[in-house]
Amino acid sequence: MRPLTLKRAAKPKSPAIVRGWKRFFGVSCTHARHVDRDAWRAALKSRSDFAPHFTFHLGDFCDTGAFRSGRGENDGSDPVDPDLTSGLVHLRELEPQLILCGNHEQRLWRYLSSRNDIVAYASHQAINCIHRCASDLHAELVEYTGIWSGRMLGNHLLTHGTVYNVNAARDMAEMYGNVIFGHTHTVAIGKGRRIDNPTGYNIGALVSAPNMDYAANRRQTMAWTTAWVRGEYCDNDCRPEIIIHRQPTPSMPPATHA
Ligand SMILES: [Fe+2]
Repeated sequence: MRPLTLKRAAKPKSPAIVRGWKRFFGVSCTHARHVDRDAWRAALKSRSDFAPHFTFHLGDFCDTGAFRSGRGENDGSDPVDPDLTSGLVHLRELEPQLILCGNHEQRLWRYLSSRNDIVAYASHQAINCIHRCASDLHAELVEYTGIWSGRMLGNHLLTHGTVYNVNAARDMAEMYGNVIFGHTHTVAIGKGRRIDNPTGYNIGALVSAPNMDYAANRRQTMAWTTAWVRGEYCDNDCRPEIIIHRQPTPSMPPATHA
């Protein structure tokens, strides 16, 4: 008689959890002619080496100085065409799949309803050029609608940003939960004071701060940071890493007659 053997029942297999992680790369605030060329080249090299599946620009790819409020009628220091052209060249070099407009592009939309026909026409033409560029790149273009604008990447919001203070990363995290933004040009990571412990990532800018005359009278400009973000994301998660580009320290010239 064969001995009775007890076979242990096979353990039921738990369903495999497969999360398809992909790589992303993003920048904010290149501001056309104000771009820091060295940092921009380094950012593009970083993107190329990283080979992301998804790339985004968080806005302020143009500076639109000609459309800033309070600009004098005869102030020719910020012509429209070179600003727009270089802003769009940067987009074509970056090849993003998502282009968010920032508060600087939003000036164009604001002037669409200008009572000055020439200004309204110029802003209309500029917006058309931006749309055409996005279409050529097969990118999603998102108009700036202040606190309401953005797109989700995993469980993080991508947005240009609206808060402008030293606690912007914390405040943005408290507004949205996990969030990746630019706007203040200053790299920061802040935690929101909420039960879900959200994180705000401010990814800085890619501008040459000493060349931006309208920001020359503020101490905070010295904290501006050339940087970009890259990382991994899946359907319900996102792991950002901010890369800071080392900037040369501006030196003051010696006194001529000393
Ligand atoms: Fe900006």
